[in-house]
Parts: sequence; structure tokens; C-alpha cells
Amino acid sequence: MPFARVKSGSQAGADPAPARRSPAVGPAAASGAAGLAPLAGPGDGGEPLAPWWVAGDGRAALLAGDCLELLERLAPESVDVVFADPPYFLSNGGTTCQAGRRVKVDKGGWDRSRGADDNHAFNRRWLAACQRLLRPHGTIWISGTAHVIHSVGLALQQEGFKLLNDITWEKPNPPPNLACRTFTHSTETLIWAARDPKAKYHFDYATMRATNGGRQMKTVWRMPAPGRHEKLHGRHPTQKPLALLERVLQASCPAGGLVLDPFNGSGSTGVAALRLGLRYIGLEREPEYLALSARRLAEAALAVTAAGPAAPLRDADAVAAAE
Ligand SMILES: C[S@@+](CC[C@H](N)C(=O)[O-])C[C@H]1O[C@@H](n2cnc3c(N)ncnc32)[C@H](O)[C@@H]1O
Repeated sequence: MPFARVKSGSQAGADPAPARRSPAVGPAAASGAAGLAPLAGPGDGGEPLAPWWVAGDGRAALLAGDCLELLERLAPESVDVVFADPPYFLSNGGTTCQAGRRVKVDKGGWDRSRGADDNHAFNRRWLAACQRLLRPHGTIWISGTAHVIHSVGLALQQEGFKLLNDITWEKPNPPPNLACRTFTHSTETLIWAARDPKAKYHFDYATMRATNGGRQMKTVWRMPAPGRHEKLHGRHPTQKPLALLERVLQASCPAGGLVLDPFNGSGSTGVAALRLGLRYIGLEREPEYLALSARRLAEAALAVTAAGPAAPLRDADAVAAAE
């Protein structure tokens, strides 16, 4: 269900213990998002959407509420790239290692499993809703572990997407496996898919090749989990690294394009989009994460206004390959 909208010029929501305050959102913050066409609504007489937060320059917005409801209310064929990091359905009483200590896996109610069939039905619903929003050349990326990614792969095929690649994100610094009863989890999968089998989807092959030192970019990307410098505005339990998202967006989003993330979390996708000069809409239902995202996005928007788009971050392997 939607939350109260942020007033113009105010910080979004309250944060119990932010490590650092970002610059205040400018006076134009809630006044309009001219570059974000999907917010105009589905074009069937439905109301335009009122964002929870809008960047001062109108290039990014956050919508508060359940993505299944919100996605239906956005304009069709209006988004260039969807990046989705959905619930992994992992928080079911198991344990993991955090800072050398064994702790319960409890990322929040949103991450609890509802059983395999219901989890899969949920994946089919939000994927179909995203497919309606994609422009003809548009593509979708979904990240996940084994708990969710096989359901997502099946759902993509059932909904008529075209599978393009599965990327293995390898983390060079994973937490140790304290139970010593399985291998140490050190990878996640990203599936990349086009809207439909005939789609002439966008892929910046040349930039990917140049990033990889003139050799074709492969499907294993080695990148560390986000460090402290990416958590200056607060923490999210499943935050993705900016380098990973920048690679995704550089590869698949046309210049100036519009990126949407139905499971916005801490807003990493949006920060990466803004840094590359793209536009962004994020959907999130937890007020705490909306507030965190608004702080991160406001800072990124101001940095781009002041200095222009940033050079994309590179993983260690790409830097080595390019040298
Ligand atoms: C795996 S996290 C995404 C983390 C994000 N990629 C980042 O880098 O911070 C999933 C997020 O989706 C949100 N969420 C879960 N179910 C949702 C739903 N039905 N509608 C909107 N948001 C949802 C959760 O609150 C959580 O913040």
C-alpha cells in the first residue's frame, strides 16, 4: 500500500541511524518528473502515479508500495531496461556468517518463502507485468541464487521472453561457510532476457569488448560485494555493487534511456543509472529503504549535475585485461 508522499524540498522519510546525511533534495524535488513517461499512467483513463520522491532534476523517482500493484499502473512500452533483484525466499530459519559470527538469515518478511508453487506464481506475475512495460528493444535482468533463479528462468520462458545470457557474478571475498557441510557460497546468477523471441534488443558489444581489453566479454564477472564506501547512507541486507549494475546498464541501455527496478532496495540500480546519465524509476514497499534510496539518489543526481556522467566502475579483471 502506498505511503505518504515526500513534501517538496524535504528529506525522504526518517532514518534511525544514517551514517551520513546527503545533500537536501532541491525545491523542485516533488514538482515533476517530465523525463519519466511511465508515470503518466497506462493510457486507459487510469490516474498518473504520484511518486514518493523525485530527484531535483526530474531524472529519477521512487514509487512506494507493492510492485505488483504499481507495475500495472505504469505506461506500456516505456522502459528500456528492467533490472530486478527479487526476494530470494531465503529467510527461513537458516544461518549464515556475518563479521565472523553465526547469525540467523533474516533479511525481512519480504524474503520469507511461501512455498515453491506460490513463489513461482509470484515470479510469473511480476515478470509478466515488467514485460508489458518494456519497449520493443528492451531487455530484463534478474539476479538471484539457486533458491529463486531456476523459477525465474522457467517463468521467463513461460511468459515468452527470449533468454540471452546467464551471467555468473563471482564474489572474490565471500563469507566463510561456518557449518562446513556444503561448499562456500560465492556466486550469484544474473539472467538476461529480451522482451520476446523476435526482439531486436540493444547490446553495446563494442563497449563491452573495449572494457575487456579488446577481447569479447565473457559471462563470468568477478566483482566484490559492495564495500563501506557504498553504504555511507545506511545499510540494506542484499545491496548489490555499483560496478555490477553499471556493467549491466552499459551493456543493455541506450544512451539517455529509462531504467526500472521493481525491487529497488537501497536504490543501487538507480545510482548506477544516474551515474551513467540514464533515467530511473524504483519501486519499493519498505519506508526505511525508500528513505535510504532517496538519500543515495539525491547525492548521485547532484554529482552528475555538477560534473556530468561518471566513468563506469570496473572490476579488477577488466582493469587487468585492459592494461
Ligand atoms: C533483494 S532486495 C533488492 C536490493 C537491491 N538490489 C539493492 O541493491 O539494494 C529486494 C527489495 O525488494 C523489496 N520488496 C520485496 N517485495 C516487494 C514487493 N512486492 N513490492 C515492492 N518491493 C518489494 C524489499 O523490501 C527489498 O528491499
